[in-house]
Amino acid sequence: MRIPMIAGNWKMNTTVSEAIKLVNEMCPELDKINNIDKVICPPFISLVPVSELIKGSSIKLGAQNLYFEEKGAYTGEISPPMLADLCELVIIGHSERRHYFGETGEMVSKKVLAALGAGLKPILCIGERLDDYEAGRTEEVVTEQLSSSLAGIAHPDGLVIAYEPVWAIGTGRAATGEQANETIGLIRRSTAKLYSDEITRDLRILYGGSVTADNIAEFIQQPEIDGALVGGASLKAAEFLSIVRQTSEIRQVR
Ligand code: 13P
Repeated sequence: MRIPMIAGNWKMNTTVSEAIKLVNEMCPELDKINNIDKVICPPFISLVPVSELIKGSSIKLGAQNLYFEEKGAYTGEISPPMLADLCELVIIGHSERRHYFGETGEMVSKKVLAALGAGLKPILCIGERLDDYEAGRTEEVVTEQLSSSLAGIAHPDGLVIAYEPVWAIGTGRAATGEQANETIGLIRRSTAKLYSDEITRDLRILYGGSVTADNIAEFIQQPEIDGALVGGASLKAAEFLSIVRQTSEIRQVR
C-alpha cells in the first residue's frame, strides 16, 4: 500500500525561533489533512523543540542527515540512535551532501543501513546532474546511484526514495510530470531487480526539484509518483499547506 507523502526539507534555513514560528503557523492546519503522510525536516538544532510542538499530531518529523556510527569520537556528527528518539524519517544522500560534502555511494549505503538498523525510515535521494541529463545518461546515473546506495541492504523496510534531478533543485526549472514519471518508473523497475516485486509495489518514490503549489498537481497526477520532497516552498506555510492539500485531494492511496 502506498500512502502519498509530502516531505518538507528545510535545508540550512530557520533559526530555532523561526522554526518554532513556522511550525506554529502551519502545523495546526497540516494536522487536519488526511490520507497523506506529512513530514517536516528542520535543521538538527530545531528537532527537539519541533518534536515537542508536534507531539500527538499526525505530522511526522524527519532529519536531514545522519552519521553511520552509533557513537564515539566523531566531532560534530549526529548518530542514528540520537535521531531515533525524535524522528521517524531521515533524508540520506541528498545531492547537496553528495556534491558539497563529498558523500559517496558507499557512505550513503552505510547511512541507509545504519538508519534502518535504528528503526528510522530513510528518504534516499538520487538524481542526475545537468550534464548527465543533457547527454542522455539519466538512466545510467540513477540506476548506478540506486544500486550503490542500497548495496548490502537486504530488507529496505520503510525505505522511501526521492528522485531529485540536480538541475531542477532550487533552479525554478522543475522536470515535467511526464519526465519525472518516466524516470521514477525506471527507478521502480530497477528496484524490482534488487528486491522482490512485492517490496517494489509498496515502495514510495517521490519527486523533488522546484516543486511549488502551482506545479504539484502535474506530478501527483502521474501514476508512478507518490508525493514530493519540497525544498524552498516548504518554508512558506501557506504554500506548503496548499501542496499537501492538493496532494491529498488528487492522490488516493495506491
Ligand atoms: P527545491 O524545492 O528548493 O528545488 O529543493 C528541492 C530539494 O532539494 C528537496 O530536497
